Amino acid sequence: MASSLSLILFYFIFFLSISLSSAVVPPADTFQYVNQGDFGEFDSEYAPNYRPLPPFTSPFQLCFYNTTPGVYTLSLRMGTRRDNAVMPWVWEANRGNPVGENATFSFTSDGNLVLAHSDGRIAWQTNTANKGVVGFAILETGNIVLRDSKGSFVWQSFDSPTDTLLFGQSLRIGGPTTLVSRASTTNNVNGVYSFVLEPKRLAMYYKTTMRYWASTFPELNQRNVTIVNATLEIQETEYEENYFNSLKCRLSNSGSQPYLDFDLLRYNSTLSYLRLGIDGNLRLYSYRRNIRFSSWSLLFTLFDRTVTPRGTTVEDECQQPDRCGKFGLCEGSQCVGCPSPTGVFAWSKDCDSKPPPCKAGGFRYYQLKGVDHFTVKYTPGTGPLKQSDCESKCSKDCKCLGYFYRTDRSRCWIANELKTLTRVGNSTHLAFIKTSV
Ligand SMILES: *[C@@H]1O[C@H](CO)[C@@H](O)[C@H](O)[C@H]1NC(C)=O
Ligand SMILES: *[C@@H]1O[C@H](CO)[C@@H](O)[C@H](O)[C@H]1NC(C)=O
Ligand SMILES: *[C@@H]1O[C@H](CO)[C@@H](O)[C@H](O)[C@H]1NC(C)=O
Ligand SMILES: *[C@@H]1O[C@H](CO)[C@@H](O)[C@H](O)[C@H]1NC(C)=O
Ligand SMILES: *[C@@H]1O[C@H](CO)[C@@H](O)[C@H](O)[C@H]1NC(C)=O
Repeated sequence: MASSLSLILFYFIFFLSISLSSAVVPPADTFQYVNQGDFGEFDSEYAPNYRPLPPFTSPFQLCFYNTTPGVYTLSLRMGTRRDNAVMPWVWEANRGNPVGENATFSFTSDGNLVLAHSDGRIAWQTNTANKGVVGFAILETGNIVLRDSKGSFVWQSFDSPTDTLLFGQSLRIGGPTTLVSRASTTNNVNGVYSFVLEPKRLAMYYKTTMRYWASTFPELNQRNVTIVNATLEIQETEYEENYFNSLKCRLSNSGSQPYLDFDLLRYNSTLSYLRLGIDGNLRLYSYRRNIRFSSWSLLFTLFDRTVTPRGTTVEDECQQPDRCGKFGLCEGSQCVGCPSPTGVFAWSKDCDSKPPPCKAGGFRYYQLKGVDHFTVKYTPGTGPLKQSDCESKCSKDCKCLGYFYRTDRSRCWIANELKTLTRVGNSTHLAFIKTSV
C-alpha cells in the first residue's frame, strides 16, 4: 500500500517535471540578433550611433547604441521617425557593462534572454532559463516581458529601471527602489545621483549618503504607516478632460494615498516618463502620439527657477549639489559668489576651495553667515550640540572640509564635500569652512 502510493507519487513528480521542462519557447519565437551592420539615421538621445533591432512595438524599439566607438548598450528607445524629435532611451540592459561589435542578443528555447560578447561571454541575462517562459514581448507601455504559458510575467523590464520610470512603472519596497543617474552623455556608467523610495519618504541622494531632497508626506508621520510602492500614474481631476501625471505612492495601513503632483496634462498621455537626469534633477516628459513636431513636452522639473502658479512641489535650483560647481554660493537659482577666507568674490565655474592640511594647527575656519549646505534642508544633522563640539568633530576628521551650524536649534552638519552653498538670509544658519593657516 505504502509502496504503491510512493510509486504514484513518483510518477506524479516524474510527469510534473517533464511537463515543466517541456514548457519551451516555440522555435519560431526564439531569436538571435548580432550587433553588426549599418547605423540608423534618426536623432536619438546622447547623439549616438545606433542599430535598430527587429523587436518593435510602436513607439518602442530595442537598439544597440554607442556614444564611443565599440562600446554598446542594449536599450529601449521611445518615439517614431514621424515625430521629428530626438528619441530618448527609456530602459537599458547593461549600463556599466558594455558589449562590442558582433555582440549577440538572444532569446533561447529554454526561455533565457541573453546579451553576450562576440566571444560568447555573457554580459547580461534575465536568468530565466527553464522557468516556464514561453514568450517574449514588448508591451504597448514599453514594458519588455517574458511570459509563461498562463500569461504571467516571469521577468519584466519594469522591475529593472536605471534612470527612468515609464507610465505605469513602479518603485516598490521589496523590489526595485532606486533610480541612478547616468555619469555623462558620453559615459554610460552610474552617476552620483539617486532617487530612492524608502518606507517613509521619496528621497534624492548625492553619492548615496548625502540627501539633498525628500518628500514631505504628513500621512507618514503616523507610526505604523509606510509607503508600499510609488507608481507613475495619471490622476484624474474633477474637470473631466484634464489629467495630472502624478507619481503616486501607495501607503500601507492607510486609506490615503499621497502623491507627488507633477503638472496638468490636457490630453491623455499614457506615454510619459520620469527621468533622473545627469545633473541630478528630476523631470517628467510626456509624449503625444501621432502629432508631428511637438510630440514631446517637458511637463515638470523638480529643481526649477520658477515656482509654478499652482504652487506644486518645486524646489529652487540652488538645492542641486552641483548647481554652482565645486564650491559656489547660490541665491534665487543664480550662482552669486565664490567664498574665500578674504571675502566673497564673483562666481566662476572654477571656484573651488583648497583642501586644508590634515594636521592640527595647520588649518583654521572662516565663517559665512546665512548660508546652508545642500544637505541641511532635508537632513536633521546631529545635536543638540554646542558649536565648539561641532567644530571639534570636523577638526578631528581629515575628510571634513567644513561644518554647518544652526544656532537656533544647536544642530551640526559635517561636510566632506562643499559643492553648492545656498544663501538663506537667516543669521542663525552659519557655515565654517576649513582653510590652511
Ligand atoms: C564581426 O563579424 C564579421 C563576420 O560575421 C567579421 O567580418 C567582422 O570582422 C567582425 N567584426 C569585429 C569587430 O570583430
Ligand atoms: C501595525 O501594522 C501591523 C500590520 O498591518 C499590525 O499587525 C499591527 O497591529 C499594527 N500596529 C499598530 C500599533 O497599529
Ligand atoms: C502597490 O501596492 C498595493 C498595496 O500592496 C498593491 O495593491 C498595488 O497593486 C501595488 N501597485 C503596483 C503597481 O505594484
Ligand atoms: C487613456 O488612454 C489609455 C490608452 O490609450 C486608455 O486605456 C485609457 O482608458 C484612457 N483614459 C481615459 C480617461 O480616457
Ligand atoms: C531664522 O530661522 C528661525 C528658525 O527657523 C526663524 O524662527 C526666524 O524667524 C528666521 N529669521 C529670519 C530673519 O528669517
